[in-house]
Amino acid sequence: MWSPDLQTSDGPIYVRLAAALERDIRSGLLGTGSRLPTLKELAATLGVTPGTVNRAYELARRRGLVEGEVGRGTFVRGHGEKTAIASLAPQVAVQPEIPSEWVDLSIVKPNMAIQEPYVRSAMLELAQSPTLMDMLDYTPDGGHPLHRQAGAVWMHHTGLSAKAEQVLLTAGAQHGLLVAVSALTKPGDLVLCESLCYPGVASVVLSLGRRLRGVRLDEQGMDPTCLRDACRQERPAMVICIATCQNPTTSVMSAARRSEIAEIAREFDVILVDDDLYGFLAPTPVPPLASFAPERTLYLTSLSKSVASTVRLGYLHCPPEWLARLAASVRTSIWMVSPLAAQLATNLINSGKAYEMAQAQRAEAQARQIMARELLGQYEYRSLPTAFHIWLKLPSQWTSGDQFATLARGHQLLLSGGDAFSVNRDGDGRQYVRIALMAAGREQMRFVLTKLSGLLETPDSAWL
Ligand SMILES: Cc1ncc(COP(=O)(O)O)c(C=O)c1O
Repeated sequence: MWSPDLQTSDGPIYVRLAAALERDIRSGLLGTGSRLPTLKELAATLGVTPGTVNRAYELARRRGLVEGEVGRGTFVRGHGEKTAIASLAPQVAVQPEIPSEWVDLSIVKPNMAIQEPYVRSAMLELAQSPTLMDMLDYTPDGGHPLHRQAGAVWMHHTGLSAKAEQVLLTAGAQHGLLVAVSALTKPGDLVLCESLCYPGVASVVLSLGRRLRGVRLDEQGMDPTCLRDACRQERPAMVICIATCQNPTTSVMSAARRSEIAEIAREFDVILVDDDLYGFLAPTPVPPLASFAPERTLYLTSLSKSVASTVRLGYLHCPPEWLARLAASVRTSIWMVSPLAAQLATNLINSGKAYEMAQAQRAEAQARQIMARELLGQYEYRSLPTAFHIWLKLPSQWTSGDQFATLARGHQLLLSGGDAFSVNRDGDGRQYVRIALMAAGREQMRFVLTKLSGLLETPDSAWL
């Protein structure tokens, strides 16, 4: 009978058992089709409950390593190694090079014409400033104290009463997610997020060997009843939430919903990550999720959408006892955020220019949303009056967002099909496309949306 070695990995027994199973399949000790011991047999050998073995088998099944039927037993799947590796692979495709005449509506980015004059003058100012010399040196892991102070000022704009000494710098929100998951969870831990979610979350969680499960959404974002059930059944280590302008659905949680999510996190002792880089797009001010459970929430923001994506600057705010671990994770991943970029951002924030830029982006988004309503208003879609994108349900002649995106590519338009956002890979986003509205100039966008409206009418057979 198979005798797993549980000593070579950490964590709860069921996680170690699943890891041992994966190791023995990869090493060839357990070949394709091998029958695994029954729950009772293995439980007796290991001195654990059958429930523990069941959880391990279930985890291995989700990783594509084993399959089974009630009454017949559990068997090693063919190509177990390949599927196991695939389950850890990032879900974000490498960005292909885009020909300059194409319009990229697949990335939610801010309008560049707004950024350009501000960034240009901030760079000139920095080049001539006597502080430049200081910015050529290494900084502490979490960032220079003045840069952390600027991060706290920035967070005040989205309603978080942040303390500079609890702020760390990251190279954008994606890096913030990486730092959060790697520092605060262990391999094999379960992380929850919305069932339709920005694919960068899956990319981080799965590539670090954590498990990911999507929690159903309603019109306000993560559904508290489903979250409570998932916490009760599966004991996640972390819940990642996009509470304002959820990507891709654009939902915004009310204050009451935020308070409920925070309560559940408290009840089940779960770490919350409040990914708030769209906080500045809230139609009316609403306190950040982090403010409802500051003792267990890592708040993440960045300047990528509000100020400039390529400054690559993000900030996180966390309880003091997590700082050392998170700073170590910043050091491990990138050593430190570029002090030059951080100084540029600090100057923009302290001069009030960053806030001005964010307001200008918001106003531009508002104009684009009005245009979208005018040109695509006959279709069903979700958005906010200030969102940078819409989440559009395709008319019934389309069987998938990917299919429509393929058609659009033929017209030099890049779009994201909804399957890319489906965390549980159950097709719940299949009928959707996400259309980013800020990429091109207004007139070009008018042309593009008119073209998309025509393509949406194209019958399926024409595409075939
Ligand atoms: C919800 C969410 N989190 C994080 C990120 C990554 O942002 P950044 O460009 O700051 O790394 C994005 C980017 O689109 C996002 O939509």
